[in-house]
Amino acid sequence: MKNVDSKSHVRGESIYLDDIALIEGTLYACVYDSPVAHGKLNSIDTKEAENCAGVVKIITAKDLIGENQIGGILPDEPLFADDEVHFQGMPMALVLAETEEQARYAAKRITAEIAPLEIITNPREAFAKNHLIVPPKHFKLGNTENAFKTSEYVFAGRADLNGQEHLYIETQGAYTVPTEQGGMKVYSSTQGPTAVQRCVSRVTALPMHQIEVDVTRLGGGFGGKEDQANAWAALCAVGTQLTKRPVKYALHRMEDMRMTGKRNPYSANYKIGLDKNFKIIAYEVVFYQNAGASADLSPPVLERTLFHCTNAYFVPNVTATGYSCRTNLPPNTAFRGFGGPQGMFVIESAIVHAAEKLHVPASEIQRKNLINDGDEFPYGQKAMSEAVTSWTQADEKFDFARIQKEIGEFNSKNKFIKKGVALMPICFGISFTKTPMNQARSLVHIYTDGSVAVSTGAVEMGQGVNTKIAQVASTIFSLPIERVKVHTTNTLRIANTAPTAASAAADLNGHATQIACKTILQRLKEVAVPLVEAQNAEDISIENGFVFRNGERTDLDWLVLVNEAFMQRVNLSEHAHYATTGINFDWSTASGHPFAYHVYGTSIVGVTVDCLRGIYTVDFVKACHDFGNSMNISVDYGQIEGGIVQGIGWMTMEEIVYDESGRLRSNALSSYKIPDIYSVPKTIEFVPLKTKRENPAIFNSKAVGEPPLMYGIGAYFAIREAVKAFNTENLPAFDAPFTPEKVLMNLYSETVKEMKAGK
Ligand code: MTE
Ligand code: HPA
Ligand code: MOS
Repeated sequence: MKNVDSKSHVRGESIYLDDIALIEGTLYACVYDSPVAHGKLNSIDTKEAENCAGVVKIITAKDLIGENQIGGILPDEPLFADDEVHFQGMPMALVLAETEEQARYAAKRITAEIAPLEIITNPREAFAKNHLIVPPKHFKLGNTENAFKTSEYVFAGRADLNGQEHLYIETQGAYTVPTEQGGMKVYSSTQGPTAVQRCVSRVTALPMHQIEVDVTRLGGGFGGKEDQANAWAALCAVGTQLTKRPVKYALHRMEDMRMTGKRNPYSANYKIGLDKNFKIIAYEVVFYQNAGASADLSPPVLERTLFHCTNAYFVPNVTATGYSCRTNLPPNTAFRGFGGPQGMFVIESAIVHAAEKLHVPASEIQRKNLINDGDEFPYGQKAMSEAVTSWTQADEKFDFARIQKEIGEFNSKNKFIKKGVALMPICFGISFTKTPMNQARSLVHIYTDGSVAVSTGAVEMGQGVNTKIAQVASTIFSLPIERVKVHTTNTLRIANTAPTAASAAADLNGHATQIACKTILQRLKEVAVPLVEAQNAEDISIENGFVFRNGERTDLDWLVLVNEAFMQRVNLSEHAHYATTGINFDWSTASGHPFAYHVYGTSIVGVTVDCLRGIYTVDFVKACHDFGNSMNISVDYGQIEGGIVQGIGWMTMEEIVYDESGRLRSNALSSYKIPDIYSVPKTIEFVPLKTKRENPAIFNSKAVGEPPLMYGIGAYFAIREAVKAFNTENLPAFDAPFTPEKVLMNLYSETVKEMKAGK
């Protein structure tokens, strides 16, 4: 089944924010943002800007009718800086002008007097000064103190991970249009229409029913628009409120990179204890999360880091602690995996550390510790595990031993080119970790021409959720997919939505759609009973546009049935609600059953390192992945391929650099390298996990949005293997990304040390 959007995408007909037809009188917005990372704001001078051609209004904190606050979790994020600035890129004023060029020109003519305050960019330094966003979070299973005492081997170390720029193809933006009775319509490139509605309501002091948020589609979000689309919508909304004119703001790439937060960087300390059989019996980990200047989504991201701190392994004694540290960087935020990948990288580092010291392959320790059915995660939920099955099926298909042998032979014959391989099992929990967010609604109409319109809370951002939702309706009604249209995500049609996030959109909104369609279908069946002279509705089925009685086709077709129902005044619409059952979590005991299910898989990642230049290629990613029973394998493969490449980018070449003044140095695509077609693995080969188990996903088709990104972590450890094959004296620090520069330094660590010592 093709993605329903594929034709309009390739024809350039899909409608993104910037494609919305503008209304006469639209103003263009541009932000003046803070040039310093921390300081006391004494004054803003907008005089010169006010006199620029085309400028209609300049807005600062004092002009707001509502609250100057957009923090969703904590009220710690002013829309406009008022008394202090907290990061470079923090909005301070908004220029509204007749054209985009005029708005940008004028914004450059604003100045501010800011008295500098101490700038902190490092989470450990923020921690030392007790700058925490929220109180520390803890998970505890068993007793690590005792377990370390009985451990045969104990290793401790440190792992560091950098952030990641979302680099959605479509930058952030919004367009607000005044409506009757003082309301407004907000077009936003957001994963969270309700979050935008709530935020606009707060800064304008308009009740939520005066605000309609509409989202056609996103040119990618990747978590970067779960919360961070709010500011731009709020700015435009304030502009519309104060001028009574439509206001549009679509950020330029460099503005977007400078002003928005990224994946949270982490620094972590780990300690791992193994028994004589290499069973991990104790794991202690402390995460220092770089949250940036305000909470944004960092607290739940940190929670998910703890949820995934043991990845796909069972460890009977775990103590995990997380600190969300406030720094003077743009607020960091959700990014595919939502903190999970960060937690996984650290335990993989600990395992590799142990393996290197014990002179065994890391895969031996990994394999021995995979979680089994009934084993408990550190948060109390018992596993329904596919960790061993995915590992075994990957091994059967791809033969690790053979791959390892071939690589060993290659390395023994080649001096300046080395290959490396790593295994990366994954285990990712599906559901928002905050239980109340796991609900969704769907509105389904059948029109009298027999066509079907569906609206849900899900936002299409390239992941194919609209295709999956259309498939649900087309399957239940047994209609061709062309007879179903999934419409924009709109807060008037669907209220109080969870953001499209946590890989759960197809599950939540698909289930709601299934309920709505089944309800209407039942009504249609009842209408059909007398028409085909059946006994009751159970005897009726509808297949391929015809009514069947006891499995036999009748002459009654879909169109006639729908119209008959209409004539009988039977409701052809349904608004259905779905809430995931069986999930709960209690932070006061840090235990519960937060996830509807887990997604598992095992990948093998192979790389080649050019040991003269430090550059590398990813040769292959081969994996056995737990799709459940995929309802759309081509859409899911798209997610697998995209996720892997994004994960490899994060672990290898993408390097965010803030200098000590808090200035983003990697502020454009010339200084921030993302994977291109040449950095994509030459081979990506997947086998679906074979399992007969049922799961609670929609149509048994497990969520696929985020998990594959974590296979990319294997690239880091594969490069490390190749580097060690060349420079046998050196154990590289666990410090991602492994950029070519770092690879080169590690290949020649002795030479580098000598150079540094001036020899
Ligand atoms: N795929 C594309 N093409 N674009 C995106 O922005 N976001 C990812 C993933 N895949 C994303 C994507 C993230 S972070 C999530 S949480 C899921 O899609 C959300 O969509 P789903 O719940 O429908 O899987
Ligand atoms: N995943 C993604 N987004 C979220 C979550 C989560 O678990 N919780 C809150 N927002
Ligand atoms: Mo995805 S990080 O949950 O938007």
